[in-house]
Amino acid sequence: MHHPQNTTIIGLQWGDEGKGKMVDHLAEHADIIVRFQGGHNAGHTLVVEGVTYKLNLLPSGIVRPDKKTALGHGVVLDLWALEKEMETLSTAGITITPERFMIAENASLIMPWHRVQDQNRERGLGDNKIGTTGRGIGPAYEDRVGRRAFRAGDLLDPQALNARLQGVADQVDDFCAFAEDMMRFSRTLAPHIVPLWQVLAQSQRRGETILFEGAQGFYLDVDFGTYPFVTSSNTLASQAATGTGLPAAAVGHVLGVVKAYTTRVGSGPFPTELSDTTGEHLGAKGHEFGTVTGRKRRCGWLDGVLLKQACTINGIQALALTKLDVLDELPAIKVAVAYQKAGVTYTHLPLHWRDFSDVSVVYDTLPGWQSITAGLQDYDALPDNAKAYIAYIERLSGVPITCISTGPRREDTIVR
Ligand code: GDP
Ligand code: IMO
Ligand code: MG
Repeated sequence: MHHPQNTTIIGLQWGDEGKGKMVDHLAEHADIIVRFQGGHNAGHTLVVEGVTYKLNLLPSGIVRPDKKTALGHGVVLDLWALEKEMETLSTAGITITPERFMIAENASLIMPWHRVQDQNRERGLGDNKIGTTGRGIGPAYEDRVGRRAFRAGDLLDPQALNARLQGVADQVDDFCAFAEDMMRFSRTLAPHIVPLWQVLAQSQRRGETILFEGAQGFYLDVDFGTYPFVTSSNTLASQAATGTGLPAAAVGHVLGVVKAYTTRVGSGPFPTELSDTTGEHLGAKGHEFGTVTGRKRRCGWLDGVLLKQACTINGIQALALTKLDVLDELPAIKVAVAYQKAGVTYTHLPLHWRDFSDVSVVYDTLPGWQSITAGLQDYDALPDNAKAYIAYIERLSGVPITCISTGPRREDTIVR
């Protein structure tokens, strides 16, 4: 089967690369926007006609009234969070019909006890904590592979659901309220719950195009990230097929989103982290505070070692470079090209995070441009040193940069 012009967007760092903005940008030319992993640990920001939307669970395409959206079974779904987000968006004037928002029947649910487990485990880890979003993501995925999860489709049979709920009565404080909520979800959400693989296959046959919206970032991938300081899902591009039930070829064009510098929320190694005034400057200028938890994001230089590896594993065909404007005032810009530790030079991510922490970093230094790129929409208008930085990243990664973001608003975008 031919898959016309599908696109998969993923983040290539530790999340918050500006995926939401890029998805919003490309959604104009797609028919269905689909999330395929993660849950409401994601926080995707769009700024459209002066209105800022912060989406955790609903695909970013929902803000465009003529688009359909869906959550694949690779997503873990907190029904309470979903209900709240649907209400918030409805209040903002966005209509969410079953036609426009579908949920895969085989998606696993995040239950209230998963959140408690997540937070308790983090407390138990003390200084070694992962710094999760505390939303029950990990425990929900554990129950999925442990073959004991509740799934979205369970809401379609209220009687069987009710019977099964009795079995988890000891897991919640207020069982009556919990069971009542579940019965309400079963009424309100049932029309949205579908065999998504079938719906998507049909829509592909009609020639409609899908835009897959990745959450988190490649170095939070449970297998390829900085384990154990990762999230509990695969965040890599091929998950777009695995997490929706479409054939591998449906992944289509793979676009990697890379921030012009690096940020990370939560714990874990971060070789190019800056704990000086430049780091402070990036955080302040880039408004680097977590969308989900409000935590201050750690900031540092772009890591070319990680970028190259991410491009290889994900088969990145084009890059979107975001937040270029945040570098506007810097006199010089650095990019990591290798790590060194105990006489060993690394040009890839070592297996163990211990080998990756306290490395000394080998940098290339490029001249800054010290002029304003914020809001530019035309490549030719960029200062020469900004163009040189873009060309440098293309050379380093071996991938063309086809889109440059110069601000949070939808229109602050350069397309090449
Ligand atoms: P996501 O999780 O990858 O969707 O990214 P987040 O929304 O968590 O974080 C990106 C933040 O940067 C948001 O506040 C965006 O509004 C903002 N943003 C996105 N692109 C740009 C850009 O090019 N320049 C600036 N200054 N801000 C941007
Ligand atoms: P978006 O989609 C940045 C991080 C958490 C923590 C680790 C595990 O907005 O880019 P989890 O709650 O998933 O078990 O936490 O992953 N994390 C993110 N960091 N952006 C995200 O999403 C993230 N989602 C999870 O901070 O370090
Ligand atoms: Mg985010």
